[in-house]
This record gives sequence, structure tokens and C-alpha cells, in this order.
Amino acid sequence: MAAMTQSTSAILSVRGVGKVFPGVKALQNVDFDLVPGEIHALLGENGAGKSTLIKVITGVHPRDAGRVIFNGTDIHPQHPGEAQNMGISTVYQEVNLVPTLSVAENLMLERQNLKWGFINWKPTIAAARDALATLGLDIDVERPLGSYSVAIQQLVAIARAVALDARVLILDEPTASLDAEEIKSLFQIMRDLRGRGMGIIFVTHFLDQVYAVTDRITVLRNGQRVGTFVTADLARIDLIGHMLGRELAEVSSHRHHDERGFTGKGNQIQIKNLGRKRMLHPVSLELSGGEIVGLAGLLGSGRTELAELIFGAQKADSGLVFINGEPVMLRSPQHAIRSGFALCPEDRKQDGIVAELSVRENIILALQGRRGWLRPIPGAEQQKIADDMIRALGIATPDREKPVGQLSGGNQQKVILARWLVAKPLFLILDEPTRGIDVGAHADIIKLIKELCDEGLALLVASSELEEIVAFADRVVVMRDREKVSELVGAEITQSRIIEAIAR
Ligand SMILES: Nc1ncnc2c1ncn2[C@@H]1O[C@H](COP(=O)(O)OP(=O)(O)OP(=O)(O)O)[C@@H](O)[C@H]1O
Ligand SMILES: [Mg+2]
Repeated sequence: MAAMTQSTSAILSVRGVGKVFPGVKALQNVDFDLVPGEIHALLGENGAGKSTLIKVITGVHPRDAGRVIFNGTDIHPQHPGEAQNMGISTVYQEVNLVPTLSVAENLMLERQNLKWGFINWKPTIAAARDALATLGLDIDVERPLGSYSVAIQQLVAIARAVALDARVLILDEPTASLDAEEIKSLFQIMRDLRGRGMGIIFVTHFLDQVYAVTDRITVLRNGQRVGTFVTADLARIDLIGHMLGRELAEVSSHRHHDERGFTGKGNQIQIKNLGRKRMLHPVSLELSGGEIVGLAGLLGSGRTELAELIFGAQKADSGLVFINGEPVMLRSPQHAIRSGFALCPEDRKQDGIVAELSVRENIILALQGRRGWLRPIPGAEQQKIADDMIRALGIATPDREKPVGQLSGGNQQKVILARWLVAKPLFLILDEPTRGIDVGAHADIIKLIKELCDEGLALLVASSELEEIVAFADRVVVMRDREKVSELVGAEITQSRIIEAIAR
């Protein structure tokens, strides 16, 4: 295991940095070095302080202690724009561009081609196309950014950083919403940039990606630096140990596939030929209470569309949904919720989180909605529900009354997940439930999902992580090109069988 090498050739150095939020020591005495021509992973559990370190470096938050040295000089950027002008570009966890502006406008934000005070469109559009071409992305740059998938929005944010000729590029979970192909091309771009001497900081929860593309790893835990290591010298099991501060054995014990005998006694949900033109070929599917059905397929294969049609978030133009043989009208999410359905969406930031409300208020929201707003849940019960979930999912928050917007990205996701888990619907659809969630919490979430299932809940879980699907699913439905192409049961559920079905 390599110790931290005190590098004199660093392009970016952090020395003794501290940052306190009310009730939280987010960073304590953190040191960090980035050398030109390296991809440096910044790792740690949800709430470990990764995003805060980045925000302190780039001037989103003022630091309480310590130094940030860029290119040999102490810097004190007051906002990310200033850091960017110095040569430090950042792509944040949440795409922080403007969805209503066109792709071209977003790419050129703050550096538009101005001619007598007007945007000079021709060069702006041409430059935007060029920037995207370097990422192998060929899209209509005049359409609003918000009309594209999160994946594409993320790539636009990266293209923007690249186009600004940064010397340091910081990527905070850029791959959370990219599919395998997009990740491959992003990695190619990262390697190219490294070859040109750029220093890249890369935050991710996917350990495969860490080993695929990074040179060194710095691990944070509870706001402190655990160590810096050469990736090739650090075994995965040791890395996880550093991140969690405990052994992997505890974590992996409930992750293997138990052949839970399925009784089929609970509620029966039948989906018959549910579809919508140009969106999803009619899909039929049956689920029973106590069963977990995995939904596999590449990004864009129709997974999310199927979830939204079932939930009434998109209107189907064919097909019906039955609960215990009775047809139900799912014309809107409100109808679906009243019928006992729940959807935890993929884009939780946009569709779920109420940043100003507390952790407790966010958690009880769906349960309160089910019980009816005229019968408020008593305070003591709310507190107990919130505390139970904070414990079960390991939500890192000083207390249940903290506004959710102040939690780390992964912990916000846990709160939304908790909201749907406590609502105890009869049918729960989870779209990418563990995206952005750290390796330790993964296991907690899967354990909780299984427990709920044992209480009779029917679950449909869309995930791009095959390992995870194999670990929890009783049945797997594979989607491809907006169509159901395969259904696997029991022993047929293996990663290779799923990949075969996806790729066929
Ligand atoms: N604006 C804020 N106000 C108050 N507390 C904050 C704020 N931003 C972050 N925190 C707290 O600081 C700690 C570190 O959060 P940070 O976002 O840096 O974690 P992270 O390592 O990026 O986690 P994740 O993997 O979930 O994104 C957390 O306890 C979080 O609740
Ligand atoms: Mg973060």
C-alpha cells in the first residue's frame, strides 16, 4: 500500500482544510494533492465530505481553515466561475445548467459570442457542435437542454468544462446517469485529457470505474482523509475497508441470492399489453405480493417508460392494469397512489426531494398522502418513523429536523427511498434505487427491500447494475428497444443470461 507522496509537482494542493456546517464537521484538516496528468479518485461513503471538498476548492463554500494552492499560488475563489477562470472546471453531481436554455446557450454560458450586445448565433452554434463532437455527441444544439435525458445533459456539462481549456477537471459522480457506452467514451475522453497533462479529480461510487480509469485514490471518512493510495496497489477489499472503517464481510453477508421460496399468496398485480405509441411496445407482466421482479435493460431500453406508464405518470394508449383481478384506472399518479401504487423515480432531484422540508417531513410525505391530509400523523409517530428510517438506511444527518437540501447527494436519495418504503404501498416501483448510494448503504437498502417484500409488498426494481438484480430478483424482465424481450426465473437469473438477452 503506497503512502501519500508529498508531491512538489502538484498542480492543485489542499492543506489542512476544514469546513463546519451547523452540527456537522464536514471536513477536518484535509490534505490532498493532484498532479498534472493523473486521474485521481476521491472516494468515501455518502456524507464523507467529497462534494464539500470540491465545493471548498471551487469557491461554492468558503473554507473555515486551511489552504488551497493552485499552480503554486494560494487561491481564494469566491464562486465557481472564478475558479473556472483560473483553470479549475467542475461538473457537479447535479447538473447545474439551465434546462430551459438551448444546448448551445448552455455550452456558451457566460462566454457567448457577443456582437454589439447580441448573441451571435452562427459561431455560438458551430462552437457548441464542435465541443460536443469531441465527446462523440451529435445532437440538435438548438433544442432546450431540458428536453434531453439526464445522461446527455451531463455530457453537455462535461463538454462545457473541456471547451474551457481547464488545467484541472473535477467530475463529481458524472457517470451516475450514463450507460455503458457513454461511460466508455467518457473514460476515453478522460484518458485523452490526462495525456495532455490535465489533472482530473473523479468522484464515483462505482468501484469498477475506479479500477478502470484512475491512477490514485484518496479516501475520505467522516470528513477526514484516511489515506492516498496508488490504485494498482490497493486491493478492492482494502479500499472498501478504508471507506467504511469496517470489514467487508459485514457488508456482503446479506447480498447473496437466497432462494426465497415464493408463496404467491399476496396481492396479484397484472399488467396486460400496457403500451404507448413511439414510447413502449405493449408489455404484459404479472407480479404478486412478496415478489421482487427486476427490470433490466440499457438506458433508453424502455425501463423508465414502463415504470411511468404503470404509475400513470405517462398516459398509456393501450392495455390495462388489474389488482386482484379488478381493472384499475391509472390515469394519473394520484389515481395510482390511491390504488396503493408507488414510484420512486430515477431523477429524484427533480421529481421527489423537497429541499426546504426537513428529513422527517420528506420521509412521511407519501404516507401522509395515503392516509389523507385531514388525518395528520401524530408528532410522536412521525418522529419514530423518521428515526427508524434514519437508522435502517444509515442516513447521515445530525437530526431528523435538518432540511433535506443540506444533506449529501446520496443521503438525499436515501430520504426519498425512505419516503416510499414507509408508505407501505401494495406495489412499489423503484427506478435505480441505489444510484449514487455508497457500497455500505447498498446492502442496507437491499436488506430493507427484502424485508418489505416478506411483509407482502410486490416490487418492480429497475436497475442497470446486473450484480444487484441477480442478488435480489425472483424474476427478471429484460427490456430492449422499448420492448420486453425476455423473462428469466429462478436459476436462469445470472448476469450472463441477462447480458445475452440485452445484447441479442
Ligand atoms: N449546504 C450544507 N449545509 C449543511 N450541511 C451540509 C451542506 N452540504 C453538505 N453538508 C453536510 O456535510 C457532510 C458532507 O456532505 P457531502 O455532500 O460533502 O458528502 P459526499 O461525500 O459528497 O456524499 P455523497 O456520496 O452522498 O454525495 C454531510 O454530513 C452533509 O449533510
Ligand atoms: Mg456528493
